[in-house]
Amino acid sequence: MGRKAIYTRVYNQLRYEILSGEIAIGSPLPPERKLAEQLGVSRNTIVRAYSELEAEGFIVSRMGSGRYVEALHPAPSHAQTHWGKQASGKLAAAPSHMAELLSVTDTYPNTINFAHGDGGKHTLESSCFSDYVKSTAEQLHSYYFTSVQGLPELRERLVAWMDMEPISSPEQVVITSGSQEGLYLITSLLARPGDLVVTEMPTYFGSLQLFQSLGVQIIPVPMDANGMRIDVLEGILARYRPRFLYTVPTYHNPTGWTMSLDRRKKLLALSERYQLPIVEDDAYRHLHLDAEPPPSLKSMDRTGNVIYLNTFSKLLFPGLRVGWVAANRSFARLLTRMKELSITTNTLGQLALAAYLRDDALRPHLQEVRKQYAEQAAIMAGHLDRFRPLGIRYERPAGGFYFWVSLPEEINPRQLMTECLQQGVSFTCGDMFLLREAEQPYIRLCFTHERTDQIDRGMKIIDHVLQSRKELLS
Ligand SMILES: Cc1ncc(COP(=O)(O)O)c(C=O)c1O
Repeated sequence: MGRKAIYTRVYNQLRYEILSGEIAIGSPLPPERKLAEQLGVSRNTIVRAYSELEAEGFIVSRMGSGRYVEALHPAPSHAQTHWGKQASGKLAAAPSHMAELLSVTDTYPNTINFAHGDGGKHTLESSCFSDYVKSTAEQLHSYYFTSVQGLPELRERLVAWMDMEPISSPEQVVITSGSQEGLYLITSLLARPGDLVVTEMPTYFGSLQLFQSLGVQIIPVPMDANGMRIDVLEGILARYRPRFLYTVPTYHNPTGWTMSLDRRKKLLALSERYQLPIVEDDAYRHLHLDAEPPPSLKSMDRTGNVIYLNTFSKLLFPGLRVGWVAANRSFARLLTRMKELSITTNTLGQLALAAYLRDDALRPHLQEVRKQYAEQAAIMAGHLDRFRPLGIRYERPAGGFYFWVSLPEEINPRQLMTECLQQGVSFTCGDMFLLREAEQPYIRLCFTHERTDQIDRGMKIIDHVLQSRKELLS
């Protein structure tokens, strides 16, 4: 190798190590002679490479103490940190509950699954939706992009299907890749790192993870069987100025509780008084086991302060990744600008959904699954009743997907979960839905994902694990 080639190799290597952060800003470089020996090159080669890097501003000589890696100019305030570390900051610090939960089926493929929050394979089968996907895939236009805001026909049909007075036009609807993306877009528009957001506690872990990852501070509001404690909320709003309030008022995840009509009215009045945007996540509204729930906050919204979120993940299946946001026109326009950054939502799914709604197929599908889910809930409740002598408590939800089950102090939910997983049953620990440890341990059991025979088998396994623990404890 010629002298020029050797010099270029050394220069490039040092430059790469400095730029990539492998040699940190501020750290000393080895003396010329030592580095020459290490690399098996002449001292002149090192002198030349160092001079070049110094001329470019990558390194600096300090009289009597050698050469150091210099911060690049103009130096940003965080120049001491490598970009990889900067990028990982909040994200790495936030819990990774979503990935943990989704990996259950990969790690334990044959487990009886009470962990995931969806309607399972049987819901998809009974929906006939796959027929719509097949026939849609045969149409050429399903292979192209649709508009950023979402397929116009789907938005139009959603307006009719939601049937809410304040949402009268498809211009008010934005289709998103699941409601999680909707919440991500809304949060990015309304709040910056360090801002405050109010939400009921416990709450859907995907929202907690999202807020924490974006550096938004969460003010928790306690809840009871009538939903968020509005009396506590009022005190919070008087003292702080949160950017928005996030709530799952109907068949809340994980508790299954529903906000009473009276509290809904009070919440809307507070929103008006404090000019507080409300993000209403209504994923479970149409999945009632008994009577219909109270009206949505959005349907009673007279100020335009309510931003409404919903999703086909719970109505059909989550892999579809189609959800929507309904809001006032100006906010919908802003959301569309933000949505443009990820281009648009998948066309095939939107076209199939538009056809499904056109044929009015969603209505009979929901009637059918409500019956199925009520049966599934009854089987699970029957088993849970038999756990009562162990101090295990639950309330039957009026809709949604979950039993929120409280355990006596001596049963550690994580240990119980590990033992049940080893026996082939998965569920979710309650602490996923909290900011800090609960005074009382909880687990969440989803009753909709498995068919009745599997629920029966799974609950017998939990029973068996609990009984063997009881023997150990007594
Ligand atoms: C309250 C709530 N919102 C949103 C989601 C996620 O919905 P999507 O799959 O549409 O992102 C879930 C899923 O568990 C949920 O429980």
